[in-house]
Amino acid sequence: MSNAVIINIDKLINVREEYPLLQGGALAQLPVRQNAFLRIRDGRIVATGSMPQWEAADNETVIDAKGGSVLPGWCDSHTHIVFAATREDEFVDKIKGLSYAEIAAKGGGILNSARRLRTTSEDDLLEMAWQRLHKLVHQGTTAIEIKSGYGLTLNDELKMLRVIQRLKQKAPIPVKATFLGAHAIPEEYKNNTEGYINLVIDEMLPAIEKEKLADYVDVFCENGFFSAEQTWRIGQAGLKHGLLPKIHANQLSLSGGVQTGVKLGAVSVDHLETMDEEAIQVLANSNTIGTLLPTAAFFLRMAFQPARQLINAGCAIALASDYNPGSSPSGNMNLVVAMSCIQMKMLPEEAINAATINGAYAMQVQQEVGSITTGKLANLIITKPIPSIAYLPYSFGDNLVEKVIVRGSVWE
Ligand code: NIG
Ligand code: FE
Repeated sequence: MSNAVIINIDKLINVREEYPLLQGGALAQLPVRQNAFLRIRDGRIVATGSMPQWEAADNETVIDAKGGSVLPGWCDSHTHIVFAATREDEFVDKIKGLSYAEIAAKGGGILNSARRLRTTSEDDLLEMAWQRLHKLVHQGTTAIEIKSGYGLTLNDELKMLRVIQRLKQKAPIPVKATFLGAHAIPEEYKNNTEGYINLVIDEMLPAIEKEKLADYVDVFCENGFFSAEQTWRIGQAGLKHGLLPKIHANQLSLSGGVQTGVKLGAVSVDHLETMDEEAIQVLANSNTIGTLLPTAAFFLRMAFQPARQLINAGCAIALASDYNPGSSPSGNMNLVVAMSCIQMKMLPEEAINAATINGAYAMQVQQEVGSITTGKLANLIITKPIPSIAYLPYSFGDNLVEKVIVRGSVWE
């Protein structure tokens, strides 16, 4: 556990004593302190101050930001980083004109990932996921949610969740586990959706509770996957086993996923590419966070999420990467932030809040990360010198992350 001080910080971004979930207009308020230092004890932020007032202390490592800025590490509240193989063949199929649904219908998509995952060992999955996580931290992600959903049998879903549990133990950042058994109907249940739902409810959920393998339950609520009514039943069953819902909603169609998620009291409803006025109002009048995944919309060449309408209606918005081999083979949150500004017209301040404090809320780790607040973990990004906050998303594709600090230590 390290004692350190970061000095010569040009802009200390998202410094807050109080850190409420940001809804509507509050999302654009990003508190910044100029010319600052930040002190760390035992891996936690203990003080911030004005640089001219800084005095060296004994037994602390001095990290010189050299005029760069410091912000809370990205809080990526929606990923699928446990997978056995990439799917660039489907990427080429899509270039040639096949749709996501057509690829799924010919055995590609999620079922392709499930086939590959079932023949891969827990240790090998862990090694691959660890490599991905390690890279993501270098890109600035310092809290992450990870889903199962490529197993689709009792044993393979448990295998995935055990990998996530081992990542929780291995990674020094907050990690949350989500059970997504209802990600697709597996081949063996092609003509028996109810049979598969029963397996999820009657066998998978009790086994997961017994081993304490998950924090959340998720359902892919979508035409051809799980209906709103089936999502409701699986969500209710998850709640009975102590898992709060986080729902894949309204990605490809008006699936009713938003309404069902809100009715379940979901922590978040995620994707939201396809929204109508009713879904927006239901979300705005709820405590559920709307998590937008712009790189998934980008990769699938879909219309982007209507961020402005959601924010103007008063919704609480988070941004996440959806890192997975099929619809977002990147977990780079710097790109997510840039894309939300470029394609969804979010203000740079809104995007940074949505990818930090609101992302932390979307996985219930807001007391540990998501803002520069005394007592929180020193999980931070030090940028290269930037002339303004807007310069971060403006310079999309450029790597402005100079160093990442995890619990007060530089990530190597
Ligand atoms: O979030 N929407 C469903 N699940 C993933 C895609 C998974 C896949 O294609 O492997 C998503 O986009
Ligand atoms: Fe997803």
